[in-house]
Amino acid sequence: MAKGGSDRPVRVGVLGAGNVGAALVSLLLEDAAGIAARTGVRLELAAVAVGNPAKPRTGIPAELVTGDAKRLVEDPGVDVVVELVGGLEPAGTLVRSALAAGKAVVTANKELLAAEGAVLSALAADAGVDLLYEAAVAGAIPIIRPLRESLAGERVRRVMGIVNGTTNFILTRMSESHMAYADALAEAQRLGFAERDPSADVDGHDAAAKAAILASIAFRCDVHTDDVPREGITSVSPVDIAFAAQLGYTVKLLAVAERLDPPGTTARADAPPEVSVRVHPAMLPNTHPLAAVRGAFNAVFVEGAAAGELMLYGRGAGGLPTASAVLGDVVDAAHHLQAGAPARTPMRSSAHMHPADDLRCAWYLNIDVVDRPGVLAAVATVFGQHGVSIRSMEQLGMGDEARLVFLTHVARQGDVMATLDGLRKLDVVEHVGGVLRVLGDEEDR
Ligand SMILES: NC(=O)c1ccc[n+]([C@@H]2O[C@H](COP(=O)([O-])OP(=O)(O)OC[C@H]3O[C@@H](n4cnc5c(N)ncnc54)[C@H](OP(=O)(O)O)[C@@H]3O)[C@@H](O)[C@H]2O)c1
Repeated sequence: MAKGGSDRPVRVGVLGAGNVGAALVSLLLEDAAGIAARTGVRLELAAVAVGNPAKPRTGIPAELVTGDAKRLVEDPGVDVVVELVGGLEPAGTLVRSALAAGKAVVTANKELLAAEGAVLSALAADAGVDLLYEAAVAGAIPIIRPLRESLAGERVRRVMGIVNGTTNFILTRMSESHMAYADALAEAQRLGFAERDPSADVDGHDAAAKAAILASIAFRCDVHTDDVPREGITSVSPVDIAFAAQLGYTVKLLAVAERLDPPGTTARADAPPEVSVRVHPAMLPNTHPLAAVRGAFNAVFVEGAAAGELMLYGRGAGGLPTASAVLGDVVDAAHHLQAGAPARTPMRSSAHMHPADDLRCAWYLNIDVVDRPGVLAAVATVFGQHGVSIRSMEQLGMGDEARLVFLTHVARQGDVMATLDGLRKLDVVEHVGGVLRVLGDEEDR
């Protein structure tokens, strides 16, 4: 073993040689001397396990390729296992076996971490080894380590991220080139930013897994992907995007992790955090730093009690950018092994999920009504009945109909939903169109 300050190289076993695995292997093989010079650790590629070992692979010596991943994770000559297979199984079994065999594990697998992060962290803690996953959220962007280490003492209030490049590309094209959703999606697919089946991205599953991981790290609590309500971007229309632009806002798909302790509990350090973790499209003022994140780029915006506002920005995907984040974790794990230092095991508590109906933010709504006297009063009455206060209203004539576009002041989500139900029941309301949360403006900061 490479423990206890030995200058023997740290031997790395890689599971998977796809987009990320192959890029990591190229970094390990082509820049070994540079990595050693920059970091002081010598990394040696021990083996690469793949699904189909017969497949020709450029840049990976054939003698390092194996089809036996199980043997690799149990090999006493391997110090660090890097899991880049993806999905729940066999990745989960391989990671558990590696941890049980006392190996540090590095993974980029958001799906596995969002489903089994608490169990895997406990296994790593029991074994006294590292489980590191910087690349699992926002690819190349360092966000896990800053949250876990640099902001370890910070009382983080909220983390908001654009963590899915596919949906950000589509929304950017809809905003800037006035494209319909289907056309923007087709372009994303043509350029390789979206899968043929785009549902993991456009329905918010991918962002929800990342939101669960961000919340777990930011608030040191267990959040499972099933705890994360999600709304994707398929119902965002060009009309909403155009109104948002007129009003000075940009529509983004956000992963939001927020700490919302009830009054009086914040002083109790041992109280389990009350959190809201969710994924939904939202309108952000054009002046908000996240509004400027265009195309397939990602960014994570952190609001802390003492640190104030921070943003980390960069490439959220791609083989080489993601491999760079993985490599950083491998170097970290190697340092810990060489120092013989016990792995850091951040304390985690169970999370208390804040009721969605009690969430508070401003809202954008657009409704089509018949254009006749008294309609505005009827509509305003419904808002008033549910205690939702209107911040601004714009009316556009459309023949016999009118479109009313509202921005509300900050309101309880449950009250806004009740208002929408009430509006749908009015015979003067033809259609309730776009409904979007408004975050990041002066009422929300
Ligand atoms: N791609 C990105 O930009 C990106 C960004 C952030 C995070 N990630 C995460 O990184 C991980 C890897 O993604 P990827 O895009 O590199 O995936 P990928 O291109 O689909 O590669 C998967 C690799 O796993 C191998 N594999 C499949 N079954 C295996 C098994 N039973 N044992 C050993 N190897 C097996 C495959 O072997 P064959 O080559 O023989 O098929 C392939 O080399 C995923 O968790 C993903 O979510 C990816």
